[in-house]
Amino acid sequence: MPEARTPARIARRPTGDRYLGFGVGLRTPHLPHVRAHWPQVDFFEAITENFLGSHGGRRRALDEIAERYPVILHGVCLSIGGTDPLDRTYLGELRRLADDVDAVWVSDHLCWTGVGGVHTHELLPMPFTEEALAHVVRRVRCVQEVLGRQLVLENPSSYAGFTASSMPEWEFLARVAEAADCALLLDVNNVYVSSVNHGFDPYAYLHGIPHERVAYMHLAGHRHCGTHLIDTHDRPVAAPVWELYRQAVRLTGGVSTLIEWDEDLPTFPDLVAHAEQARIEARHAQAGTSQDQVATGGVSG
Ligand SMILES: [Fe+2]
Repeated sequence: MPEARTPARIARRPTGDRYLGFGVGLRTPHLPHVRAHWPQVDFFEAITENFLGSHGGRRRALDEIAERYPVILHGVCLSIGGTDPLDRTYLGELRRLADDVDAVWVSDHLCWTGVGGVHTHELLPMPFTEEALAHVVRRVRCVQEVLGRQLVLENPSSYAGFTASSMPEWEFLARVAEAADCALLLDVNNVYVSSVNHGFDPYAYLHGIPHERVAYMHLAGHRHCGTHLIDTHDRPVAAPVWELYRQAVRLTGGVSTLIEWDEDLPTFPDLVAHAEQARIEARHAQAGTSQDQVATGGVSG
């Protein structure tokens, strides 16, 4: 059993969110290490679709882990922005899984993944229009009713946009969250990647979302491809993303944070070291900034 860790602070948030600390994504190659050592980690985030409807060895591993650590379920197939009807079978299985592992949060992305029953296995960008906004709000409310809990929506990275969009992504996300009363997963790396790809100010993004609704944050590495960035999750967090993260910590008051890593996986101890780096960065951010600076956006870099 890992030692109990006392969180640095307990966030009291309107969404009723819990402060978990600094966690890592649960990846299949790390399962043997985790089950052999039960290492000290604040929490895990498991990819929902890897465990839905499964009762095999991998699912048993998740159950064992959920007995020892807080677990978040993070999905990639909800297609909250899609035009196909919501998949009730998927939602029913998701609710059962979330109940079984006592998931702290259930998150997915602000995107669509297919149309006409065809799944692209991609997180496709939304048009940020009033029509799309009303559509997503309706679907988030419906999902929350089926799940019996708040949905946590993540900002995805994107590489293309719609000329029909009438508002920036952060305004769309903020209005969805307020209208549907859902929570947010702020992926700081995605904000940075999209800001470079689309040419917006990432600090304006951070200031434009309702901070009290941010349940937790993601950090990950990206690849620079000359003309654009790709959200690759295959390397350490880049310096400009750490800088953005420090501002996100100041604005949110410091919420649970997770390192996402999917390709070229480091060893499990190395992965945890990156989460510990986030803990240090968060402490520095919270210690070094006055509330006045936050209120005026004076540390926007
Ligand atoms: Fe993410």
